[in-house]
Amino acid sequence: MQKMVEKGIECKIANGKILSCIFYEPSTRTSFSFQASMLRLGGQVLRISGTKNSSISKGESLEDTVRCLECYSDIIVLRHPMKGAPERVMRVCPNTSVMNAGDGSGEHPTQAMLDLFTIYKELGKLDNICITFVGDLKYGRTVHSLSQAIAEYEGIKINFVSPEILQIPDDILQVLVAGNNHSLDIVQCSELTLDILHETNVLYVTRVQKERFDHISEYAKVKNCFVINRNVMKNCKKAGDMIVMHPLPRIDEISTEIDDDPRCVYFKQMKYGMYTRMALLALLLGIA
Ligand code: NCD
Repeated sequence: MQKMVEKGIECKIANGKILSCIFYEPSTRTSFSFQASMLRLGGQVLRISGTKNSSISKGESLEDTVRCLECYSDIIVLRHPMKGAPERVMRVCPNTSVMNAGDGSGEHPTQAMLDLFTIYKELGKLDNICITFVGDLKYGRTVHSLSQAIAEYEGIKINFVSPEILQIPDDILQVLVAGNNHSLDIVQCSELTLDILHETNVLYVTRVQKERFDHISEYAKVKNCFVINRNVMKNCKKAGDMIVMHPLPRIDEISTEIDDDPRCVYFKQMKYGMYTRMALLALLLGIA
């Protein structure tokens, strides 16, 4: 997909197919990359954003809205604030592909696929790496999905670094620990120590998810818990052995002063997202 886009090759493989994007939560990268992916494959896109311009504003249920889109499209991409929303939807339309574009503080599986692609492209491997997740590991759904995906590989060490109130949820930890991967090593702590920085190949930074806190005062206590800047980068491995990733949007957790550092790949990561989603759509449509 990447080669096709870079060479400007026109693609028609999704000709006649329609993708519905329904987003009940804000999105820039996920929403636009899905739309761009479908258009680049030669398909068409329908989009409902927010709740204002559809019958959602009249009180229509999620199930009925999706039943409607099922009539008009071949694939549905859904982002919803409720954990488990995609499973709920799949029950009412078992014959349509529903892709989870983020369900509250649950999961974000297509982001995990593009994150794996980014690691592979930038480090040349997925086995034998140390990945350090930093920030809001409780509500950060991209962390929940990527940690489970990377745990499938050999020789993986995962450091979960967060304030105590934003630790990785127990259910995710349990899945990781109960998995069959005996070479998986997991460490949980609240400081980004020098030892951790020295061993890290992938520093996966996340935004503290303000919108998921019950009280703004709780958010204020942890909002700038970790800031990655030049000083932090001085203690990291060299280019080629180490990358900094972020699903974006970033607030203050990555200083713009390091944007030009070759190890910072978060802007490439969002481009890789389109290639990955093109591949996923093609697979679901049965044309790849
Ligand atoms: C993330 C999300 O929505 O979960 N963004 C994304 O999809 N690229 C991360 C975030 O909002 O912090």
